[in-house]
Amino acid sequence: MKVAIIGGGAIGLLFASYLSKKHEVTIYTRTKEQAKMLQEKGLSLINQQDETQIIKLSSFPMDQMNQVDSDIVIVAVKQYHLNDLMDHLKSIRNSSLLFLQNGMSHLSYLDTLPAESIFVGVVEHGAQRIDPITVKHTGLGVTRFGLWKGGLSFEEEELSEEGFPFVLQANPTLMLKEKLLVNCVINPLTALLQVPNGQLVDNPYYYQLFQVVFEEGVHALHMSSKEQLFNKVEQICRKTAQNHSSMFKDLQVGRKTEIEAIVGSVLEEAKKNKSRVPTLEFLYNAIKGKEV
Ligand code: PAF
Repeated sequence: MKVAIIGGGAIGLLFASYLSKKHEVTIYTRTKEQAKMLQEKGLSLINQQDETQIIKLSSFPMDQMNQVDSDIVIVAVKQYHLNDLMDHLKSIRNSSLLFLQNGMSHLSYLDTLPAESIFVGVVEHGAQRIDPITVKHTGLGVTRFGLWKGGLSFEEEELSEEGFPFVLQANPTLMLKEKLLVNCVINPLTALLQVPNGQLVDNPYYYQLFQVVFEEGVHALHMSSKEQLFNKVEQICRKTAQNHSSMFKDLQVGRKTEIEAIVGSVLEEAKKNKSRVPTLEFLYNAIKGKEV
């Protein structure tokens, strides 16, 4: 298949490196410099055994994304960059689109797009962009995806690679809500408290905050199977105990965070169903304040 990947961050580079094994991949990056470096030097993937593989692929800056003729276009930019791409995305008709943003606020965009098939996905891999042409696969996971609109135009096996599986989900809304719940509990708390994920369950005081935010999130998102979800979020903290969340890292390097896409989305849901979410409102403002 011809695969286009929009976005040269950690997730875009990770997808480009694995999907290049079987497919003809073109990556579109924000800067001309990154596209040029990728074209000239190739993309380096560092696996969990610290082995490096160099992958050759085509790369262009996003502003040259005029006629995308790929079978599938994977949109791997942050939710707050989607607006800049809307004109390009509106011109894509004969490809399938797969959106990998956190949160749920991008869903309202999707219905305005003419593409034949639209998928949404959540990425459960750990990835770190070491430099513009190097990505490290820091945690093996899966990519869950579900059909949002149109027909099922590709199968999970077509995209799956060893160490990089795709899993089709029957209920994409539930899939996104579950990821949103995980992120709205772990990300703002770890970013504000400046602790690795494991501290939220190991420190008894932070664990109380973890419980309060979980309760607010689960009600705001109208989710059932509360106990199961609680165990899931707790397990993620334990499995990634030494890791720093993406929001923690964003604040650390002075980058814009995904607070709007994550906590902002939950606050929107809370407003719709008149759910009280004082701690999430506090976290939203605290992180916004730190971004200034
Ligand atoms: O955003 C992140 O950092 C990750 O999605 C998660 C699961 C919170 C673990 O760090």
